[in-house]
Amino acid sequence: MKRVDDFRLKFGKKEYVPIMVGGMGVDISTAELALETARLGGIGHISDAMVPDVSDRRFDTSFVKDKTRFYKANIDNADKSIIKFDLGVLAEATRRHVEATMHAKTGEGLVFVNCMEKLTMNGPRETLQVRMASALDAGIDGITLSAGLHLGSFGLIADHPRFRDAKLGIIVSSVRALQLFLRKNARLDRKPDYVIVEGPLAGGHLGFGLDWAQYDLATIVAEVVQFMKTEQLDIPVIAAGGIFTGSDAVSFLEAGSSAVQVATRFTVANECGLPADVKQDYFIASEEDIVVNTISPTGYPMRMLKSSPAIGSGIRPGCESYGYLLDGNGNCAYITAYNRELALHPDGKNIVVMDKTCLCTHMRNFKLWTCGHTTYRLKDTTRRLPDGSYQTLSAEHIFKDYQFSVDQKVALPV
Ligand SMILES: Cc1cc2nc3c(=O)[nH]c(=O)nc-3n(C[C@H](O)[C@H](O)[C@H](O)COP(=O)(O)O)c2cc1C
Repeated sequence: MKRVDDFRLKFGKKEYVPIMVGGMGVDISTAELALETARLGGIGHISDAMVPDVSDRRFDTSFVKDKTRFYKANIDNADKSIIKFDLGVLAEATRRHVEATMHAKTGEGLVFVNCMEKLTMNGPRETLQVRMASALDAGIDGITLSAGLHLGSFGLIADHPRFRDAKLGIIVSSVRALQLFLRKNARLDRKPDYVIVEGPLAGGHLGFGLDWAQYDLATIVAEVVQFMKTEQLDIPVIAAGGIFTGSDAVSFLEAGSSAVQVATRFTVANECGLPADVKQDYFIASEEDIVVNTISPTGYPMRMLKSSPAIGSGIRPGCESYGYLLDGNGNCAYITAYNRELALHPDGKNIVVMDKTCLCTHMRNFKLWTCGHTTYRLKDTTRRLPDGSYQTLSAEHIFKDYQFSVDQKVALPV
């Protein structure tokens, strides 16, 4: 019976344990989690979502406070279009986050950064360019482009000296999206080094509509693997979404995936950035507690615990401090929804916004509990403590369970 450890992910001549831990913003996939993964020979991700805020927490900078002060006069203004990101700040925050992580790296694995393109930041092209270029400057091993794949993103860093040496990957949910990307990038003569195929059971934003349950990861992966063969492309395909056990992973590796990307099992790792009480909410969740809805202003469906405090919250849009979802014209679907409710309740009290959420503020404060579909199984991966709470696990324990387990078994912690 095969184990994940019988397989290797190859990039050129280098080999890795074929386990990638996916990016989880905002700082849910911490540097500590990514570093553990790399130490164990796999590939970890940090995330650059809201990176100035992450820098403030990690390095005691004051980027968010400074931005809030700068735009203070606009707080009561319904129009947020004047709010822009200082590209120098963005570059410095990214550099700090990446550089500190890469300096601490040990082991044979790699650390990549997850770069969500839907963070349009009222300047989609220039902010994405700075985010990617600064991560490359700071020595990141690779960049995974996700959520909202701009077809021209590789072109934004084509002049960077590391454009051909750093690993660049994309996340897609269909063979069609992959074909489009490859066609659009053909002139650059620079293919992705890996393609993550994310199915409908993943956490975070989904590349599917509300009919997500009609799709199935194994089928999409098979289509992508077949496409690579037909086109004679030697690009590793990495399956993601709902892979809960080592045996699940083996079934994908045997069917032509070069690795798997996993995340949900690591949300209850000690190294994961979620607060301790939120990890307990993940443990106790039942299948009915996990919903896919459309409250994210990005326009993509998102999976979350239905007890997330963000759902129905009517807080004032936090764009003066954050503003990561402002499109290139200074709009965000939450601002529109909030202003609609404000017009109905001009005193500003007891505002409830059901259809959208202020994703920046709530992700920043860990009030939107995004999760994978298999979250309800997390309770079966650990033991209960005498006080009734569930024991969190080390990332090493979870990683090795994926790497060595067989027969659909999950090793409980000692
Ligand atoms: C809490 C959480 C947050 C996530 N955040 C992001 C994100 O910021 N960007 C992204 O590309 N994917 C995100 N994902 C998706 C994961 O990186 C990964 O591809 C997917 O969840 C793997 O499936 P699994 O969770 O069933 O193992 C997130 C997943 C979880 C569970």
